[in-house]
Amino acid sequence: MDLHDQAAITSGSDFWSSTAAGDVPAITLTDGPHGVRLQVAGAGDLLAGRPATCFPPAVASGSTWDPELLRRMGEALGDECRAMGVQVLLGPGINLKRTPLGGRNFEYFSEDPLLTGVLAAAWVQGLQSRGVGASLKHFAVNSQETDRMRISADVDERSLRELYLRAFQRVVTTAQPWTVMCAYNRVNGVYASQHHWLLTEVLRDEWGFRGVVVSDWGAVVDRVEAVRAGLDLTMPGPDPAGDQALVEAVTGGRLPAGTLALAASRVHDLVAKSTPDTSDGYDQAAHHALAREIAGRGIVLLKNEGAVLPLRTEGQTIAVLGELARTPRYQGGGSSQMTPTRLDDALTAMSEAAPGRVGFAAGGDEAVRLAGSSDIAVVFAGTEQETEGADRESLDLPAAHLELIRRVAAANPRTVVVLSNGAVVTTKPWDADVAGLVEGWLLGQAGGSAVADVLFGRVNPSGRLAETIPLRLADHPSYLDFPGEAGHVRYGEGIHLGYRGFDARGQEVAYPFGFGLSYTTFSYGEAGAVVREDGIELRLPVTNTGPVDGREVVQAYVSVPSSRVRRAPRELKAFASVPIAAGETAEVVLLIERGDLAYWDVRLSRWVVEGGPHRIEIGASSRDIRASLTVDVPGDEARVPLTADSTIGEWLTDPRGAEVLTEVFTAMAEGGLAGGLPMDSSTLQMLGSFPLGRMAMFPGSPFTAETLAGLVKRANT
Ligand code: BGC
Repeated sequence: MDLHDQAAITSGSDFWSSTAAGDVPAITLTDGPHGVRLQVAGAGDLLAGRPATCFPPAVASGSTWDPELLRRMGEALGDECRAMGVQVLLGPGINLKRTPLGGRNFEYFSEDPLLTGVLAAAWVQGLQSRGVGASLKHFAVNSQETDRMRISADVDERSLRELYLRAFQRVVTTAQPWTVMCAYNRVNGVYASQHHWLLTEVLRDEWGFRGVVVSDWGAVVDRVEAVRAGLDLTMPGPDPAGDQALVEAVTGGRLPAGTLALAASRVHDLVAKSTPDTSDGYDQAAHHALAREIAGRGIVLLKNEGAVLPLRTEGQTIAVLGELARTPRYQGGGSSQMTPTRLDDALTAMSEAAPGRVGFAAGGDEAVRLAGSSDIAVVFAGTEQETEGADRESLDLPAAHLELIRRVAAANPRTVVVLSNGAVVTTKPWDADVAGLVEGWLLGQAGGSAVADVLFGRVNPSGRLAETIPLRLADHPSYLDFPGEAGHVRYGEGIHLGYRGFDARGQEVAYPFGFGLSYTTFSYGEAGAVVREDGIELRLPVTNTGPVDGREVVQAYVSVPSSRVRRAPRELKAFASVPIAAGETAEVVLLIERGDLAYWDVRLSRWVVEGGPHRIEIGASSRDIRASLTVDVPGDEARVPLTADSTIGEWLTDPRGAEVLTEVFTAMAEGGLAGGLPMDSSTLQMLGSFPLGRMAMFPGSPFTAETLAGLVKRANT
């Protein structure tokens, strides 16, 4: 490939294709993530696509807490890509839900990096098992839509490593996605598309990423700087001016020829492993059924007073109220919006489940009358729109929906609300008026049937909140630092993202992270733990003590009470969604990986597992702990070398440093050299925060540059 070809294949040839050059054909990359949105050739509308299965968006699939389901979804998406001639599917989106107002929260899994990473890795493995590449996006810290093309997410190093990069790290190291998509925004002042540290030092050198870094569509500001930073493929294209700039930068000696050649060779390798042929198709009915299964498993039952649910198919009249029962909201707006192969609505599905017993009204006085004259009322309420490109302004349901809920609940005490929303809404205080509350998220094309499955108990709910529902927006840890101003958003809550922050302040929430009810009940037995080289293995018996088969999502949280750094009181470190038949006991086994116990040490610039007691809490949610135990974990070697800038306190808490320094102090005291100061404990306390080197500035001090250098050397050998 000559220089011109190299430059050309590092950008697209149109909106969705790479550039063919020499023997390198073009490949097709398309959105993503919850369905294949292959644009109809020549269609003016960017969002129009050929029909394909609209699986539940990540807000719902993330609430399943089940990597096995995500893997099957990835496989099915891979089959559809193969049928449509798509080589790379642009997903999964794994940015953390930093604020409940995030306009793209529906496309992201969770506020927790472990849950996000585990689910996304399974999705990627499923997709790529079909010979179709994933595009892990948006790398990195793209947790808001406001000013998304320019905003700088200003995040401290620990929060960046422990939260915002951690899910990416897990997916890259465990699933090797074929591509990673860089974000639009800046990270600590530098555009993600030209962030050498992010795209090369962290992603490739540290994590071992071997694929292609593709730009988000229009994210590249400067092609030469982007390629220099480690970006391989600029999309969309063509970009003749950028190609030319690259050629000139290489010939002018401003960009090493090897850097461009490497980017081109990575694109070449991506094309080489892609399968150009289309398959014969896929089983649409089977994929619809899978979409329904995942949707049913993603629904979260938040409230069920007096066992108002499940509904009965006979002997009960049911008023179905609200337009959303008939006209579902099943996906969000923007690049993931697609054309489904078919669309189920809850009204039809419920009418089929209970023939002749379901009445419907969209709203108004009619709706209230119908509720009053029926045995049970089910109100469908939800947000109006969540979309890429804009954050939400409020967590409240539209006033008309709140009004309908209020009036129906007054007319019928057996009222159930089913929500359709891409991100959480406030539920207090109105949910006190209703008997049942079902969080139905955006559920994809089979969501209507899935809602009926859960309402009638054909599916026993097992979805769990992957994000906290706060009482009020102002309670949220991100509240004071969102959406930023003057081009910067400061991640002021640091490591206390989502439930970590609510727990750290002991704040009340509407529904906690990890929460979700079932039509059955589970009891937890005593937990046992074995500390192994690779982590901590937990075992405990969980019994289904209720009348029906169900699934329990068992969650393990860890804290390190005597940590040398600030830690959240509770961090999710392992989980499992376990089917347990009525009356049966399952032996649940969870493995907490040793690496997940580590914090990022900013002084050592690496991960450190602290030695000592770790408290493990196992429960049905982050605030429903059923078993706890403390284990002793052997720590990593993590000594911070002493320097002249280390404080006297730091010297004295380090065993070797203390030895060396005590010797000196004793000699000083004996020689009357401490400037008249007795080196007793109160003096040492006063001087504890004093960098040792500053002692040299005191009159009569025995410390000189040479003696200090000698001490430092002795202390560190
Ligand atoms: C979005 C990406 C998407 C791309 C292509 C961008 O605006 O941020 O998520 O994959 O467009 O449609």
